This record gives sequence, structure tokens and C-alpha cells, in this order.
Amino acid sequence: MEPKVETVYSALKFLHVIAFVFMSIPLFNLIVVNERLQLGSSFNYYADRYMENIISRGATRCFTFQGTVLLTGVLMLIAGPLGIAVLWTNWVLLAKTVVLFALMGLLSYVHLGLQPKIEALLAEVDPEATAPSDLPARLKPYRVRRKRLATLCLFLVIVTIVLGLQVYSRFDPVLTVVLVALAALFAWRANKTLLRFGWI
Ligand code: HEM
Repeated sequence: MEPKVETVYSALKFLHVIAFVFMSIPLFNLIVVNERLQLGSSFNYYADRYMENIISRGATRCFTFQGTVLLTGVLMLIAGPLGIAVLWTNWVLLAKTVVLFALMGLLSYVHLGLQPKIEALLAEVDPEATAPSDLPARLKPYRVRRKRLATLCLFLVIVTIVLGLQVYSRFDPVLTVVLVALAALFAWRANKTLLRFGWI
């Protein structure tokens, strides 16, 4: 690569890495949701509104980070030694791209399908009055599904990082399998616990 192209490539790689680091939003949303559960299951307008704002706005941020990962990934292929056509022959790149589109689809479903239903239920509530007693039960199915999907997204993000590190040279397949299994374990733990010590 020419020195100037190499500089552009390095800048793209930096953007690629920082954008997928910021795609860890499902992890932090799961922590926010589990923290909310610590307050009890009864409806609390301000706590619930605060949580929904974080989740809903987080989706918009995540779309931007996903778009940045896709754009920088494609530009790195065009600018770098591999060329864009390698997408069809390098299974790691193809798998990363497919998983990224799956993540975009899942986020679109959560943000455009589930979130408006939750927002509609919250819009019925007068913050100063007592909320209807059946509100938590009506919110629950959407929130449960959203939490499951956030767990799946977290797992997929970690899997794409495992794959991302293998664009130029492959890990021992056993290591890939072990890391994917650990990704599943971590995502499951993030769903069930507060991860008070980071990994556990
Ligand atoms: C969620 C989706 C993605 C994640 C998490 C991800 C993650 C990663 C990671 C961890 C690296 C290694 C960086 C390094 O070695 O320093 C990487 C490199 C790379 N990624 Fe992605 N990636 C994703 C999507 C894509 C897509 C869609 C493309 C292209 C269409 C792409 C193209 C590349 C290329 C060309 C490199 C090599 C950079 C280099 O080492 O020179 N990535 N990615």
C-alpha cells in the first residue's frame, strides 16, 4: 500500500474498531434492565421512563455505530490489499457481513416493532397519578422479548469480534469454538445477573 493509502487505511481501521466497541450497547442495556429489576417489579413512572429513554435512544446510537462498522469495513476492503470481491471468497468476511445485517434487522425489529408498543403503553400514564395496576403485566411480554433479543445481539456482537480478528489469519478452530461458547455463556450471564465484577 502507498503511504497515503496506508494512513487512510489505518484511520478506517481505528473507526472500525471504535464503532464496534460502541456496539456493546446490548451489554449496557441488559445491565440497565437488571438494575431496574433491583427496584422491584411494580411500576414507577420516572424509573421506567428513564430506562426506556436510555434503551430507545441507545437504538438510534447503535444504528449509527453499525453503519460506521459496515462503511469502514467496505472501505478497508476497497482501499486495502484484499479488494471488495474477497467478500465472496473469504468466509470470515462474509460471515461478519451477514451477522452485521442480522444485527441491523434485530435492532430494527426492536426499535420499530417492540419499542413503539412499550411507548404507547407508557403514554397512557399520567406521571402524577397512580398507574393502572395491570400496566406491568401489559408491558412484560414486550420487555421480555426485547431482553431476549438484546442477549442474542450481545452474543452476535462478540461472535463477530471473534471472527473479525481472523480476517487475515485464522485461529485454531478449537479456539474459535471455545470463544463462541464463552460468548454464549457471557451473554447468558449478562441476561441473568448484574455482572458486578465485569466478567462475572
Ligand atoms: C459487527 C460487525 C463487525 C465486527 C464486530 C468487526 C470486527 C472486526 C475486528 C475485531 C477486526 C480486527 C481489527 C484488527 O485486527 O486490528 C476487524 C477487521 C476487519 N474488518 Fe471487521 N467487523 C465487522 C464487520 C465488518 C464488515 C461488514 C466488513 C466488510 C464488509 C469488515 C471488514 C474488515 C476488514 C477488511 C478488517 C481487516 C482490518 C485489518 O486488520 O487490516 N468488518 N473487524
